[in-house]
Amino acid sequence: SDDWELKICCMGAGYVGGPTMAVIAKRCPKIRVCVVDISQKQIDAWKTDDLPIYEPGLLEVVQECRGRNLFFSTDIATEIEAADIIFISVNTPTKTQGIGAGRAANIKNCELCARTIADVATTGKIVVEKSTVPVRTAQAIARVLQSNEKGLKFQVLSNPEFLAEGTAIADLMNPDRVLIGGQQSEEGLAAAAKLVSVYAHWVPREQIITTNLWSSELSKLVANAFLAQRVSSINSISALCEATGADVLEISRAVGMDDRIGKRFLQPSIGFGGSCFQKDILNLVYLCETYGLNECAAYWNQVILMNDFQKKRFSEKIVASMFNTVTGKKIAMLGYAFKKDTGDVRETPSMFVLRDLVHEQANVHVYDPQVKREDMWIEMDYTCGMNKDNTPRLEESVVTAPDAYAACEKAHALLILTEWDEFKTYDYKKIYDSMMKPAFVFDGRNLLDHDALRAIGFEVHALGKPD
Ligand code: NAD
Ligand code: UGA
Repeated sequence: SDDWELKICCMGAGYVGGPTMAVIAKRCPKIRVCVVDISQKQIDAWKTDDLPIYEPGLLEVVQECRGRNLFFSTDIATEIEAADIIFISVNTPTKTQGIGAGRAANIKNCELCARTIADVATTGKIVVEKSTVPVRTAQAIARVLQSNEKGLKFQVLSNPEFLAEGTAIADLMNPDRVLIGGQQSEEGLAAAAKLVSVYAHWVPREQIITTNLWSSELSKLVANAFLAQRVSSINSISALCEATGADVLEISRAVGMDDRIGKRFLQPSIGFGGSCFQKDILNLVYLCETYGLNECAAYWNQVILMNDFQKKRFSEKIVASMFNTVTGKKIAMLGYAFKKDTGDVRETPSMFVLRDLVHEQANVHVYDPQVKREDMWIEMDYTCGMNKDNTPRLEESVVTAPDAYAACEKAHALLILTEWDEFKTYDYKKIYDSMMKPAFVFDGRNLLDHDALRAIGFEVHALGKPD
C-alpha cells in the first residue's frame, strides 16, 4: 500500500542507523522506514535474527517491525527516490592520512551519500545529517546537493545522535533531548518542523529542541567532550588516590552528591574507549586549531593525554606487581568490549592492555560474552597497527576462552576489564583454587567485592584504592 504518512530512508546500517530506525519504526507504525547500506553482508545480517550488532532489546524491536514498516536493502537508488526524508548515518572516522591526519574527522562517506542523493533523486528531499561531523559539514553537504543539474531543492538538517551503546534502545525510547538544527529560513524551518513531527510521536515536545545548523553540529562534539572530560577527571584522581591511600569511590560519592556536579559518569576505569569519545575530541581539537585557538585545543587535548596515561598505567601496574615479569605467564582477561552490554571493540581500552601484555610475552586468555575473535584482530590492526604479519605468535599467544572458568584455570592473574554483570556472579573460590599462587586480581572497573576476594586468598589490586 502507499498510504504511508511519510517515507524515511537511512543511509548506514550500523550502530546508529539500525537501532535509531528500528525505534522510529516501532513508535511510528504509519511511517515507512528503510535502512540501506553499501555492505551486502551488513544488510543480510539485519534480515536474520543474528543481527550485526548486539544491543539489549534491539532484536525484539526489529522482530516487531521488520516487514511491517521497517525494511533493509542495498538498493540505495530506489530507496532514496522513494523517500521524503533521508538520514545520513555513516561512519566518520578520524583521518589516517593527509591534512589533519590523526585529528580531523573524515567526512568522505557523508559527501558520497550527498553525491548519491544528488545523482539519483528526481524530487527534492530533506537530508538529515545524523553522523557526528565537524562544524559546517551541513554546508558542504548542501553545496554538493545543490549542484545537481535537475534544479531540485534540498534542505539539510543536523540531528546528532546521543545514544550510548549497550543502552541504545532505552536511550532512543526515552531520550534526554532530541536536537534538530536547520537553516533559519522559511524552507529550513518547515523542514525542521517536519522532522520534529516524527519524533513528536513519542518524545515530549519540550524535549525536542531546535536551533541553527552550526550550533547543532557543535553541540554534539561538546556533549561528548564534556562526558569524556569527566571520565579523565576521575581517572586522574584514581592515580592520586593510589599514591595517597584515599579511595576514589568515596571521592566520587562525596563529590557527586553535589547536585551541580552530579553522580553520573564518575566511575574510574582503565580509560574510556568506544568509537566516538576520542574521535570527537580530536575533531574538536582540530577545529580549535583551525581557528587559531591553541589554548582551547591544548585544553581539550589533555583529556586524551590523561586517557592514554590511564591505559598505560594499568598495564605497568600489572607487570610491576607480578614481580616485574609476565613472560610466559598465563593471564586471564575478563571482558574485552569497551563497556558492558555491547560486543563493540572499537578503541576498547582492553586492546591496549592486551597489546602491552603480548609485548611482554604473556599468554593471554580472553573471555567476553559478546566479542567476536575476528573483530579483535580487525580493531587491533586498525588502531594499534599490530597484526600476525608484523607480530609473530600474536594469534597463538591470545586465546579466546569459552567461559571465564576456562580462562582462569592455571592463570597467574585475572583482570577485570569490562563491567559485565555476570562477572559479579561467579564462584571466585572455585576460580582461586584453579589458579597459580599467588593469585592476582587486577580490577580495572572496581566491579568485584575486594574484601571477599582477599578473604579467599587473592592479592587484589583495584583502581584508585589502597592495595
Ligand atoms: P558504523 O560503522 O557502525 O556504521 C556505519 C555504516 O555506514 C556501515 O555499515 C557502512 O557500511 C555504512 N556506509 C558507509 N558509507 C556508506 C555509503 N556511502 N552509503 C551507505 N552506507 C554507507 O558507524 P556508527 O557507529 O553507526 O556511527 C555512525 C555515525 O554516528 C558516526 O558519525 C558516529 O560518530 C555517530 N555516532 C555514533 C554513536 C555510537 O554509539 N556508535 C553514537 C552517536 C553518534
Ligand atoms: C558515548 C556518549 O555517552 C553518547 O551520548 C554518545 O552518543 C556516544 O558516545 C557517541 O557519540 O558515540 P558510548 O561511547 O556508547 O556513548 O558509551 P559511554 O557510556 O559514554 O562510555 C564510553 C566510555 O567511557 C566507555 O569505555 C566507558 O567504560 C567509559 N566510562 C563511562 C567510564 O570509564 N566511566 C564512566 O563513569 C562512564
